[in-house]
Amino acid sequence: MTEESVKSALSKVTYPGFTKDIVAFGFVKEIKLEGSNVTITVDITSSAPEVAQEITLNATDELKRAGANEVVVNITAPKMPRESSSKGKNIAPQVKNFIMVSSGKGGVGKSTTSVNLAIALAMQGKKVGLLDADIYGPNIPRMMGIDGVKPEVVGNKVLPIRAYGVEVMSMGSLMEEGQSLIWRGAMIMKAIEQFLRDILWSDLDCLVIDMPPGTGDAQLTLAQSVPVTVGVTVTTPQMVSLDDSRRSLDMFKKLHIPIAGVVENMSGFIAPDTGVEYDIFGKGTSEAMAKQFDTHILAQIPIEPSIRTGGDEGKPVTYCVPTSETAKRYMKAADELWATIEKINAEGGVDNQAIQPNTPPGVSACSTAAVAPKASSGESCGTGCGCH
Ligand SMILES: Nc1ncnc2c1ncn2[C@@H]1O[C@H](COP(=O)(O)OP(=O)(O)OP(=O)(O)O)[C@@H](O)[C@H]1O
Ligand SMILES: [Mg+2]
Repeated sequence: MTEESVKSALSKVTYPGFTKDIVAFGFVKEIKLEGSNVTITVDITSSAPEVAQEITLNATDELKRAGANEVVVNITAPKMPRESSSKGKNIAPQVKNFIMVSSGKGGVGKSTTSVNLAIALAMQGKKVGLLDADIYGPNIPRMMGIDGVKPEVVGNKVLPIRAYGVEVMSMGSLMEEGQSLIWRGAMIMKAIEQFLRDILWSDLDCLVIDMPPGTGDAQLTLAQSVPVTVGVTVTTPQMVSLDDSRRSLDMFKKLHIPIAGVVENMSGFIAPDTGVEYDIFGKGTSEAMAKQFDTHILAQIPIEPSIRTGGDEGKPVTYCVPTSETAKRYMKAADELWATIEKINAEGGVDNQAIQPNTPPGVSACSTAAVAPKASSGESCGTGCGCH
């Protein structure tokens, strides 16, 4: 056997979850040959044992088919995710990390971002859940291709639905199609709590939470119910969206949620025929805002028809077109997001104790340490908890 024939055999081994092979990905780091005995070292990005196992089996098969006698596959993988070190109230303790995806404005791509980040994290070997906390306008079932799928009920709890390697739950999966919901704030809070407590999430490395637009009851309830590890703000590049996104970033600060970054969505347009990138809404405009809040741009996601069709048809671009520029950007963002989560946990994690309601029943929950100064002045605290 030669190095070339080994590479050619290994180029038939696709990386699990992708259409690309391990040679094209650049994961094959070393090839040693002794006659027809082959030893290879493969450096993978996933810590999931199944990924290493599948690559070992397939690489051995392909090399033997190409004439190898003995095959040794050494896999180097990153460490398993660190345990969460977060403290405070947590009504879903089996979940290690919580990622809140928020925006000031509606329609900027929160759900699209949540779906693709969740899938990217799952493809990188994490155990991931995706909670659609948009109680009024649940879009996640359609985007994850599980529209109309009803979850299994076990006793008085509900099993999440699995799609694209992710555990999913949404109000859309619990109600009849096309129904509208008219709910009061208190009911929204109850629904969010039930989504955390009464859904049988497994021991997840992280739960990605797609929030409704704005800074209201849902955001506050979530932050008080579980220690949110990081917040991600989604914005489009126009000034009007940026103005609203500042409110979203300010909310993270008030709720003591570390900010993992800003996803600038609809940032430029990649023409599907030529691949040339054009500015439509502008590009890079969120950088200054990110700096103002001591954070950075996690990803610039272009306008791409495949993102919209992927959403409409329940075929998320990160999973279904992994070779696209957009998919690569989501994968990179997920990588960075995870590095931030690991760093936060290494430094002691988050604590939501300071934002717990500390008022007697019936008094606005907004007189908390985080938001008390404004509340006591009679002004709204801006978190939407109803104080004014
Ligand atoms: N980068 C993109 N390129 C093309 N289409 C996109 C892109 N991002 C989002 N879309 C499309 O724009 C629409 C709105 O996106 P999405 O539903 O994710 O926004 P949202 O912020 O969750 O909205 P809402 O505030 O209503 O919950 C969807 O049809 C989605 O497929
Ligand atoms: Mg949405």
